[in-house]
Amino acid sequence: MVFVTGDTHIPIDIKKLNTTNFPFQKELSRSDILIVLGDFGLLWKEDKEYLYWKKWLEEKRFTVAWLDGNHENFDWIDRLPVSEWNGGKVHRISDNIIHLMRGQVFRIQDKTFFVCGGATSTDKEHRTTGLSWWPQEDINFREIDEALDNLETADYTVDYVLTHTCPNSLVGPMFHIPTITDPTAMFLKEVYRRTKFGRWFFGHWHEDRESPPFSCVYNKIIQVI
Ligand SMILES: [Fe+2]
Repeated sequence: MVFVTGDTHIPIDIKKLNTTNFPFQKELSRSDILIVLGDFGLLWKEDKEYLYWKKWLEEKRFTVAWLDGNHENFDWIDRLPVSEWNGGKVHRISDNIIHLMRGQVFRIQDKTFFVCGGATSTDKEHRTTGLSWWPQEDINFREIDEALDNLETADYTVDYVLTHTCPNSLVGPMFHIPTITDPTAMFLKEVYRRTKFGRWFFGHWHEDRESPPFSCVYNKIIQVI
């Protein structure tokens, strides 16, 4: 099985994965995957709190995969070795904690997933570069190029799209706020225009809201397959 949920901002919103909120986890095994749609927050500072939550997640029966949001320590992520998992590039934090890199197409349990993290922080004026904010939160040209190559190989057809933010064109109609200046959201608008997909799940907006085929996810844990 594959599940998705919204931002965990470890430790702030990780409680949604405890056994009270997610009792079904008792039925799962490591071949079942729960995907956090960005702002995972585990890799923030290499301290006792990191070790505590890493161990807490390692003790889960299921695999935790995550795409990056905007609140992650990207200098730390960028130092990790790249490996391959289900046909796409990942950073492996642990046996069952896996970072899904931007622009990859993964084949999981016979379904294809286009994954693309990243977003612009709206509160970056109040943050410190290299300590609580990193410029790599925005997608870059190399990542866009790789994403387009991978989508082309997939014939611009996937079963699911998983992102942190959403296409720029969706922000106004879905959240009733003015269009934002966010390179990732602008790129995703183009992905939306070109790609055939079944459902698209994203986080970032801290609410659970449906606008088919789009699902904005925050506290819900949704079974995808
Ligand atoms: Fe967030």
